[in-house]
Amino acid sequence: MGVTPEEFRACMGLRVSGVAVVTARAGDEVRGMTVSDFTSVSLDPPLLLVSADRDSKTLETITRSGGFALSILASDQEDLSNRFASSKWEGRRFEGLACEEALSGAPLLPGAHAHIDCRLEAQHEAGDHVLCVGGVEMMRVHEVEPLAYYSGGYRTLAPLNED
Ligand SMILES: Cc1cc2nc3c(=O)[nH]c(=O)nc-3n(C[C@H](O)[C@H](O)[C@H](O)COP(=O)(O)O)c2cc1C
Repeated sequence: MGVTPEEFRACMGLRVSGVAVVTARAGDEVRGMTVSDFTSVSLDPPLLLVSADRDSKTLETITRSGGFALSILASDQEDLSNRFASSKWEGRRFEGLACEEALSGAPLLPGAHAHIDCRLEAQHEAGDHVLCVGGVEMMRVHEVEPLAYYSGGYRTLAPLNED
C-alpha cells in the first residue's frame, strides 16, 4: 500500500523538532529560510545536514556560496520562523534585523538559541530535496528556551513533573 505525500508529512510531523533559519550569502545575494529538517551527522569531524527543497531559493544561494549558517530559534521567535517561511516576506526577510555576519558571510539572526557556521562539505540529491552537509566551523549557544515544532504547530518545552 502506497503512502501519499500528505500522509507522510503528517506522520513525520509527529517527530518533535527544533526550528532554525538557514542563511547564506553569495556576493550581494543574501537569503534565508526556515527549516526543521536539520540534524547532526558526525561528531569527529563535526558535520550536520540540512534538507532543502530542490526549488527553494535559499538552496541556490547555499550552493553558490559554498557555506551556510544556522540560527536555531528561541521560544519567542515564532514570528521570525513564519517570516522566513513566507513568500510574502520574500526579498524583505532580513528587514529590521541586526544580523551579525559569520565567517562564511551568512547572516546570524539576533536573539537565537544557537548559531552555527558551516562550510558546504557536500550536497546529495534525495528525491525532491537536496541534503546539504556542512562542516561546522563555529558554534555558539545562548541560554534561552528553544522553539519547538510538532504536528504543524509551534510549542515550547515544559519539563515533566517529577515528584
Ligand atoms: C516550521 C517550518 C519548517 C520548515 N522546514 C523546512 C525544511 O526543513 N526544508 C525546506 O526546504 N523547507 C522547509 N520549510 C519551508 C520553507 O521555509 C519555505 O518553503 C520557504 O519559503 C523557502 O524559502 P526560499 O524559497 O526563499 O528559500 C519549513 C517551513 C516551516 C514553517
